[in-house]
Amino acid sequence: MADSGLGRDKADVASMIRVNQAGEYGAAQIYKGQLAVMGDDAPHSSAIHHMAEQEQRHLDAFDQMIVDRAVRPTILQPFWKVAGYALGAGTAAMGPRAAMACTAAVETEIDRHYQEQLEQLESENEPALAHMIADFREEELEHKETALAAGAEDAPGYPILSAAIRLGCRAAIGLSKRI
Ligand SMILES: [Fe+2]
Ligand SMILES: [Fe+2]
Repeated sequence: MADSGLGRDKADVASMIRVNQAGEYGAAQIYKGQLAVMGDDAPHSSAIHHMAEQEQRHLDAFDQMIVDRAVRPTILQPFWKVAGYALGAGTAAMGPRAAMACTAAVETEIDRHYQEQLEQLESENEPALAHMIADFREEELEHKETALAAGAEDAPGYPILSAAIRLGCRAAIGLSKRI
């Protein structure tokens, strides 16, 4: 919004790329935090490794787009580093189902967020970005399904845990769009 001189539409696309890079960065940190606590031999470690690799691919792609298009990254990056890692480590410390509840909650919000962006992009000439988002969204949905299949909803205190994480994600998305 504060980005002037590029026209409103361009500014919106820059904001999309900024928030997506921030979100993928946060997601990568969450899985890193979970694996740091769970280690490689826990029941869901290999599934989390797989998700972490996919998040890295998403992050690499948005990192590249940030550079290619000279988009200013969020200034909140150091904060998302700590917050994402803490969320991952904290939920993993609560147990494997809480770790999965975290993934299900985060991916629910990311799915909604990407869906919204895809709708906004229908009126923009941004095929590369739209294709990336659609592609990544498929994998985010896979992560959510994996988490639900692994018993996310059986985590102790699931409704509260899930609601709190989703609220946090929405706040993070709102902030990273702008700053
Ligand atoms: Fe992702
Ligand atoms: Fe994901």
